[in-house]
Amino acid sequence: MERVGAPASHNLNTRYLVSFSFILIPMTILGMAEILGLTQIASVMNKQQQKQWSNDAPLPASMAEKKQPYNYDPSPLERYFLDNAKSLDLYNTSGVATCPIVINDTSPVNTEMLHYFDQLQAYNTAVNHFQPIPSDLRTQILPDGSNIEEVCEATKLHPQGLSGIFVNNGISSSSDAGGMEPLLPMMRSTKMCGNYTKPNLMSLDYLIHDFHSICKRLRRHTRTVFVDMGASLAFHNRLDSPAVYINKIYRKFGIHFDHIYAYEITPTKPEDAYAKVPEELMSSFHWINLGVDPTPGAKMNPFTTVVKNFNEDDFVVVKLDIDTPAIEHVLADQLRTDDDILKIVDVFYYEHHVMQTELLADWKASARGGTVGESLDLMSDIRQKGVAAHYWP
Ligand SMILES: *[C@@H]1O[C@H](CO)[C@@H](O)[C@H](O)[C@H]1NC(C)=O
Ligand SMILES: *[C@@H]1O[C@H](CO)[C@@H](O)[C@H](O)[C@H]1NC(C)=O
Ligand SMILES: *[C@@H]1O[C@H](CO)[C@@H](O)[C@H](O)[C@H]1NC(C)=O
Repeated sequence: MERVGAPASHNLNTRYLVSFSFILIPMTILGMAEILGLTQIASVMNKQQQKQWSNDAPLPASMAEKKQPYNYDPSPLERYFLDNAKSLDLYNTSGVATCPIVINDTSPVNTEMLHYFDQLQAYNTAVNHFQPIPSDLRTQILPDGSNIEEVCEATKLHPQGLSGIFVNNGISSSSDAGGMEPLLPMMRSTKMCGNYTKPNLMSLDYLIHDFHSICKRLRRHTRTVFVDMGASLAFHNRLDSPAVYINKIYRKFGIHFDHIYAYEITPTKPEDAYAKVPEELMSSFHWINLGVDPTPGAKMNPFTTVVKNFNEDDFVVVKLDIDTPAIEHVLADQLRTDDDILKIVDVFYYEHHVMQTELLADWKASARGGTVGESLDLMSDIRQKGVAAHYWP
């Protein structure tokens, strides 16, 4: 479902409306929805009417209060790079050096860029100093969800939320996922510029997560799912594998993953694989030591498992980094275009292997995936369609 201008399908109540509509559409055919006075709800699948509905149609008060059109608002910095992708040479198929574009004294957005980096540093300091939430937030949510504000208060990094750190709309945001880092041509940490070392390349200090917004979408019955495509536990030089890292940072904010599907094609001895899995993940960790199959609907396509087993009330995070552009492009494109997958996936991390000059020597043949500009368009499109897409280093 295209979420622009449509009620947010991540909004729980809209999800219910969508399920109601499956019941009500046949009823409309019988004219029964009319009788029940529910024509507006029955027509929820009709995009044209959705627009009218959000503008002027009367709704029962409880629904009117909760409906909210999905909206993604890129920050001015993100908009600048997207709008000027062509003149900044981001579509150059032989590659583009991204550091001189982002860190550039004469750039018209240089002041904003420097401000943003200061704010990003303040954000990282706040995350590092955050007192971990000791328990799974879901256990504190009442069955009717009425205390969600109270429960989620604990996840705030700043009394004013992220806007207290990123003043003046410094970050991009969506009505579902809240704040997220602006998409930049760099596609990772700026630390790599001028200091090309593994720890800088792999730094995750550019990622912004809005755990308060994530918390507010949780329900007591929400299942939390992390799908890791390209799960090599010996991942680069980082101490933790991505699955372990993601688990740690979310867990610090009270979000515990109870389903982890880790796909890895490189044959790994089970004892080596499990040696790196922390005990706290043993009940949720599924180690699938096989490659993924990008064919839509295939058993070994992780999206098949996600769509068949989880629903819109669940919180689903997908990471894609399989160093094989021919496969990862198909999967990213599937997410971008398949409404059933878009509805269920909440967060997407992607290392997109494109023609970024700084990384070409490391990536070698795996960079044959397109240009930096095309990658920004892809990630921005996925955000517009309701999934919080982040670059993965
Ligand atoms: C693309 O970049 C190369 C250098 O990497 C440069 O020589 C070439 O002129 C650029 N192409 C265009 C169309 O700007
Ligand atoms: C720095 O920004 C200016 C203004 O946008 C641009 O003309 C110049 O090419 C940029 N420098 C580099 C090295 O990209
Ligand atoms: C370069 O990065 C490394 C971390 O990889 C850091 O220890 C070092 O201080 C940095 N050097 C400079 C000149 O910033």
